[in-house]
Amino acid sequence: MQFMVEMNFFLCFNVIVAPAKSFFKMSKIEINNVYKIFGSNPKSVLPMVKDGATKDEILEKTGHTVGLDNVSLNIEEGETFVCMGLSGSGKSTLIRHLNRLIDPTDGDILIEGTNVMSLNTESLIDFRRHKMSMVFQRFGLFPHKTVIQNVGYGLEMQGKSDEERNKISMEKIEAVGLTGFENQYPNQLSGGMQQRVGLARALATNTDIMLMDEAFSALDPLIRSDMHFLYLEVS
Ligand SMILES: Nc1ncnc2c1ncn2[C@@H]1O[C@H](COP(=O)(O)OP(=O)(O)OP(=O)(O)O)[C@@H](O)[C@H]1O
Ligand SMILES: [Mg+2]
Repeated sequence: MQFMVEMNFFLCFNVIVAPAKSFFKMSKIEINNVYKIFGSNPKSVLPMVKDGATKDEILEKTGHTVGLDNVSLNIEEGETFVCMGLSGSGKSTLIRHLNRLIDPTDGDILIEGTNVMSLNTESLIDFRRHKMSMVFQRFGLFPHKTVIQNVGYGLEMQGKSDEERNKISMEKIEAVGLTGFENQYPNQLSGGMQQRVGLARALATNTDIMLMDEAFSALDPLIRSDMHFLYLEVS
């Protein structure tokens, strides 16, 4: 079963979603009291944030930016978890903690009970290859790779053969409506088409967890609804 975390528009910063915990069931993803402060000395600013200083006060007094302020949430297997919030409220920052593109200033992130901060380089690479895929807000495609090479990149990293990689990549390219464009480069495509390449790449790796940071934002309404149906099919 797949589930997605989609970071989308509108919602307040600092929203804490903490469903009741059971002692018998482990959440797929658990985020406990996570703080992220951007700046030259985040740890020194942490006590002020914990004492309740606002984001504006922290910026004015210390020049640091509060990205996340005490976020806790649990996501269960099979769940589609959507986080909505205003621009700059921390959605991208939060989602990037799950695959450790960003490390927290404080707090814990557990995936299937494993603290992601405890992973060494090798386990982290393995974890990113096989556990999670991500669709980036700004697409994150390789400009020097073609569509099919971009879509197949995760599979290449998983060690799949050329034949299998191309077969799966073509299926996903077709699923997102880009058949015929497989040998083009990202800069030959529109923004929405590039976003669909990112989506196809994430779908191709068939991971348990899909992280989607505004994955449908660059799509027109018709294609957006097609992609939502596609998501429902794979989930
Ligand atoms: N690398 C960084 N260095 C400094 N500050 C950062 C960095 N990344 C994010 N921030 C700050 O963290 C806060 C949250 O940013 P983030 O990108 O997570 O917002 P967002 O909710 O994804 O916004 P949007 O809807 O516009 O994508 C913002 O105040 C931003 O200025
Ligand atoms: Mg964002």
